[in-house]
Amino acid sequence: MTEEKMMVAERRNYKVHTTEDAKQIVIDYLKNTELSEYEIDFGLPEINDRYNIWKVPLLYTKEAVGDIVVDAYSKEIDKKLSSEIPIIRNRIIAIQASFSQRTVTKTKKKRSKKEFVVSNLDNMIIKGRSELALKTLPEQSIDLIFTSPPYYNARKQYSEYESYDDYLLLMRKVIRECRRVLIDGKFFVINTSHVLIPRNSRNESSTRIAVPFDIHQIFIEEGFEFVDDIIWQKPEGAGWASGRGRRFSADRNPMQYKAVPVTEYVMVYRKKPCVLIDHFIRDNPNQAIIQASKIEDGYEKTNVWYISPARDKRHPAIFPAELAEKVIKYYSFVDDVVLDPFGGIGTTAKAAKKLGRRFCTIEVSDDYIQHTINELEVNLIDMFNGRKIVYKDLSKESENEEFKSFEHLVHRLLREGHSKDELYDALLYGLKKKN
Ligand SMILES: C[S@@+](CC[C@H](N)C(=O)[O-])C[C@H]1O[C@@H](n2cnc3c(N)ncnc32)[C@H](O)[C@@H]1O
Repeated sequence: MTEEKMMVAERRNYKVHTTEDAKQIVIDYLKNTELSEYEIDFGLPEINDRYNIWKVPLLYTKEAVGDIVVDAYSKEIDKKLSSEIPIIRNRIIAIQASFSQRTVTKTKKKRSKKEFVVSNLDNMIIKGRSELALKTLPEQSIDLIFTSPPYYNARKQYSEYESYDDYLLLMRKVIRECRRVLIDGKFFVINTSHVLIPRNSRNESSTRIAVPFDIHQIFIEEGFEFVDDIIWQKPEGAGWASGRGRRFSADRNPMQYKAVPVTEYVMVYRKKPCVLIDHFIRDNPNQAIIQASKIEDGYEKTNVWYISPARDKRHPAIFPAELAEKVIKYYSFVDDVVLDPFGGIGTTAKAAKKLGRRFCTIEVSDDYIQHTINELEVNLIDMFNGRKIVYKDLSKESENEEFKSFEHLVHRLLREGHSKDELYDALLYGLKKKN
């Protein structure tokens, strides 16, 4: 530090005097975040005496990945001015990905042969909450994920979520666990749509929540690469049931216009590091699988897929088998394991079975699981791939000791004065000690 800066620090009674002080504060802070597992270096911390802050640059393998800002007076981290932890983590993952890509190209034959992962999972039907049940699956054991998550319902009387943030937190937990179980470079395809919140009275207007865009952000932060946004287009009549557009249709006044939604998103992501796709084709030791998985003529050539919605009196929100079959054919090979963490009555599992893939379907509702079990013939050997179909009931997991003690811990922390926002941050980034 220059003498002049030293004088400023002293004159102003800063608690953080030197670059070493600033660095140490950041080192301590990072220990309680999800960055603790990475070897992070530091650039030269700089003081900004206009705003009374220290900016500490973070480096990963000599590349800048973000800055953490420390308040010079209080020694507190200024989270608003600092780079967000998930974003820094994502930059690190991207750097690691580019490294493994470079190494794959350099020592191509030797490395890729060694790293070709073949999952050993049996077909599975799991009853339980995905955010817990996924933890029982081994790392890198899934080849494709296709799902349609539960609908966020903003109406308190129907909603199982306290708030939209709670809903997004569940999504983040599931997406994070899904990334762990997915094989590097493989696909996660998710069907979502914006949510319409009907008006409560004639004097109010309905509103919409752009759920797919918020979920997109989570995917990026959790280490996925965005690949495609496929539009699932339904016939025109399909959207009128929501009532949207009726008023305009009658009155035709400008500004009352509301487009009737007849599309849903089928968003396609890949787990980083994005190993070359060629690796999954050339290095598969069973080339018969590659031949058997070729896609016949008549495939979807654009990102708009015309598919009629499905109805089933057993479940209010299933997606059509045709959609699941297309996704499975385009993004997985025969004998791969296809996971649906919000499995409903098993549309993804049935499509996977039909197409000679293995399946893993997780669903919380007992009714929906029963329908899935009835149709998928549990305990039988799958005729196609000779693997067992295993049923696991993990619904009691939520009552097990680990979960109970977690719930007790949450209640205790709330009683001790930690705010809900703080606990939310803690789940994502680690808990700071309350003074
Ligand atoms: C949109 S539906 C999926 C329907 C499915 N695609 C089908 O065709 O049958 C979402 C499903 O997620 C289930 N669900 C909600 N929260 C869950 C959780 N935490 N873990 C597992 N399943 C959950 C719901 O019961 C519902 O069946």
